[in-house]
Amino acid sequence: MNVLYRTWERLVAQELERSRKNKEKRWRPKLHISPPAGWLNDPNGLCQYQGVYHVFYQYSPFDAKGGLKFWAHCTSLDMLRWSFEGIALAPDEPFDCHGAYSGSALVENGQISLYYTGNVKQTGEHDYIHTGRESNTVRVAGRDGIHFGEKKLIMTNRDYPEDLTCHVRDPKVWKQDGRYYMVQGARTAEDKGVVLLFESENGLEWKYRNRLETEKAFGYMWECPDLYHVDGHTVLSISPQGVEADGLKYNNVYQSVTVFLEDDFRTASVNGAFRELDAGFDFYAPQSFEAEDGRRIQIGWMGMPDVDEYYTNRSLEDGWQHILTLPRELSVKDGILCQNPVRELDTWWNFFISFENAYSHVLGDCFELEFSRVGESVRLTLAGGLALFWEKAEGIFWMEFTDQKLGAGRTKRGRKVEKLADLRILVDVSCVEVYLNGGKDVFSTRFYPDTEGVSVKLQAPGSEGRIRLRQDEEQPE
Ligand code: FRU
Repeated sequence: MNVLYRTWERLVAQELERSRKNKEKRWRPKLHISPPAGWLNDPNGLCQYQGVYHVFYQYSPFDAKGGLKFWAHCTSLDMLRWSFEGIALAPDEPFDCHGAYSGSALVENGQISLYYTGNVKQTGEHDYIHTGRESNTVRVAGRDGIHFGEKKLIMTNRDYPEDLTCHVRDPKVWKQDGRYYMVQGARTAEDKGVVLLFESENGLEWKYRNRLETEKAFGYMWECPDLYHVDGHTVLSISPQGVEADGLKYNNVYQSVTVFLEDDFRTASVNGAFRELDAGFDFYAPQSFEAEDGRRIQIGWMGMPDVDEYYTNRSLEDGWQHILTLPRELSVKDGILCQNPVRELDTWWNFFISFENAYSHVLGDCFELEFSRVGESVRLTLAGGLALFWEKAEGIFWMEFTDQKLGAGRTKRGRKVEKLADLRILVDVSCVEVYLNGGKDVFSTRFYPDTEGVSVKLQAPGSEGRIRLRQDEEQPE
C-alpha cells in the first residue's frame, strides 16, 4: 500500500462522508448493488472466498458521470444484503495511473488474486486506439479478503500479438487441468473484435495460446470476455461494440452475447451463433464465477455506456448512477443458456398474494410477480408507464415505456417469444428484471417512479400466479 493509495483512500472516504450528508433514499434499490455516491460500471473480481461472496466493481467515486476508475468492493453472505467495503484498488502506480480497469478474481491456496487492466494514456498527439495507450495486465493478491498487497505488472502491450490496436483488456482468469488460463478482449488493427487466450503454469508468467474469433467480424471490439463451463457446455461470453441493429436484435448501443464453443477452447474458433443475454435497455459487461456449491453465477452491469443521447438515469440528481443486476444462476436448457435470479431470492419474500386473470393495486417498491401459468396474452403496466406485453398470436414480448419521465428516455424493446410458459418480473425500486420461460430470455431496465409505491395493472386472461413481497416493506392497502 503506497502513499498514493492512502491519499486516494482518504479522499474517497471524505467524498463519501460529504455525500452521505445529503443521502437520498429514492431510487436506491434494496437488493441490487448500487454505489454509495458517484458512478458504477462493470462487475469485477467476482468470487466466493471462505463462505463470503465478494463483488468488486468499476467505480468513479468523484463524478456520477464517470471518470478515473477504481475498484470498489462489497461483500455478502446471501447475495441479497451487501456491505460496502470501500476501495479495493486505486490507480496508484505508473502502470495503472489512468484507471484500474476491469478484471477478475482467482481463489486459491487461501488467497484471492485479482487480475485487471492498468490503463495508461500517454501524453502527446494520440488517438488512443492505435497509439498512446498502455493496456497493462496487473496481478495483486490478498489473504483477508479486504486488503491487497503489492501490484505486479505481468503483461504489457509488447506481450500481445502484433496485429492488435492498443485496446486489449479485462483479463478473466481461471484454473483448469492444473493450469491457469486467461481470456482478454481486444480490437485488431483491422477493427475486428477478438478474444485472446493465454496460458500459464504459475499464474504469473503467461504465454499467448489461441485467438477466439469469428470468420467475419462481429463488431470492432470485444470487451469483458468470460469463458466457463456449464451443464456440459463451454460458453464464451463477450461484450461487443460496433454491432449493427438487426430487426429486434442488437438495438442497444453495445451488446452482450454468448456462444457455445464447439471445440476445446484452447484450439477453438467461434461459430458466430451468438445469442443476446438480455433484451432490455440496461445490461452490459457481465461476468461469472463458480460458487462454493458449484453454481455458475453471473452478474452484469445494469447500465450501458455512451447512451447520453438516448436515455439517462435520474439518480444523477442525487449524485450517483448505475447498479449491478441481481446475481443470476446460469444453466443450459434445450440448448439455450438460461439466467435465473439466485435461489436465495426465495428467502427474501414472506408475504404472498395470488392473482388469476387480472390484478390491480398499488404495491410497495420491491416485489415480484411470478406466473405459474400464462394464458394467450399478458399486459402488465407498472407505475402507469412501463408496459410489458405479449400476445401468442404475435409471438413477441415487448417492454415499452409510455411515460417518458418514467423511462428517462427509454423507448421500446422486443424479443421473439413464440411460447410463454412462465414469467417472473422483479421490481426493485428503480429497476425491473423480467425472466421468461425459465430464464431463456431476460429483459433488464431501470425506471424512475415518482410515486411512493408502484402501481400494478395486470390483464392476463387464463394466467395465474402470485405476487411475492416482504412483510416489513409497504403492504397494499
Ligand atoms: C466495459 C469497459 C471495460 C473497461 C472498463 C473501464 O464497460 O469499457 O472494457 O475495462 O469498462 O471502466
